[in-house]
Amino acid sequence: MHRRDLLYRLDLQNFTRELLSLYDELIPTEEEEVRRRKFFSKLESLFERELPGTRLFLFGSCVNAFGVCNSDIDVCLSVDEEEPNKIELVVQMATILESDAMLNVQALTHARVPIVKFTEPATGISCDICVNNTLAVVNSKLLHDYAQIDVRLRQLAFMVKHWAKRRQVNDTYRGTLSSYAYVLMCIHFLQQRRPPILPCLQEMRPTYEVKVGSIRCAYYDQVETLRDFGADNKETLGELLTAFFDYWACQHDYNHSVISVRTGGYLSKNEKEWTRRIGNERHLICIEDPFEVTHDLGRVVDKHSIKALRAEFSRAANVVAFDFNPWATLFEPY
Ligand code: GTP
Ligand code: MG
Repeated sequence: MHRRDLLYRLDLQNFTRELLSLYDELIPTEEEEVRRRKFFSKLESLFERELPGTRLFLFGSCVNAFGVCNSDIDVCLSVDEEEPNKIELVVQMATILESDAMLNVQALTHARVPIVKFTEPATGISCDICVNNTLAVVNSKLLHDYAQIDVRLRQLAFMVKHWAKRRQVNDTYRGTLSSYAYVLMCIHFLQQRRPPILPCLQEMRPTYEVKVGSIRCAYYDQVETLRDFGADNKETLGELLTAFFDYWACQHDYNHSVISVRTGGYLSKNEKEWTRRIGNERHLICIEDPFEVTHDLGRVVDKHSIKALRAEFSRAANVVAFDFNPWATLFEPY
């Protein structure tokens, strides 16, 4: 091995070590998990009393294995009506939560998904509640199941989410990507490694199936049988994070390609008919939702934010390739 290659290997080992220690720091503590569980059962009792006949489900990062410490809690209120008046329910929930002395209660009735947001004073936990968003509960299970197959997915996604928050490219209201989109990018990326680190669960014999409206959600969920799936691939976290940023900085075909976790590969923008701007949806970076296949998670990105996003991918790719202390520079606040 050349001296230069040897130095590069040593640097990568060091980089991986630093990333893994950051990963350990970001994992929520058992104490936090207990606090969240208590918070949720209190909320369930409140809703049983005030909105009988409804049920609460957790979704998002508090159940999908991609929640770092101190993340918020996403809750879905399930009501037994085909088309409930979501805005009315959100306003009603806001009144209930205010009477229960919750802080900063806000009813966001005009959002694409209407929600009520609030903070519990005792624990400082922030929570969002939406109505009948069953798909989000199902896609949280899909993400959770992928995370059980190979620990490198959770490690990679923690690094990418942490980087995106620090660099301010994790905000759909400002035209950048949601955490959900970043996790899908990580799953897709690991499906593409050779040998692959993750399979494509939706292309396998379904062992789990639910129908949400007209959408059939089906995939292989007996993931405990897939624990060795990625064993032939020995790539470390440092190598994977480097390759991830290199892919999004230099290799992805933004003009023609759609990444698709559902098929475990790429689709063309043409076949999805995502070539034209319709309304505010521009499809400048295309990430297919695994179940709502007409839904591009990149639709929120506009002509300004795509520049910012791609500049951040390039910066990250350069930092991990050339910086003397990449782990420090990479996560520097924007
Ligand atoms: P953090 O809160 O940043 O830790 O991450 P999170 O995993 O909770 O992600 P986020 O807040 O982006 O979204 C919460 C959940 O909502 C996700 O896990 C998805 O289940 C769901 N979700 C978010 N955006 C979309 C979307 O555009 N379409 C669908 N179908 N579901 C979404
Ligand atoms: Mg969340």
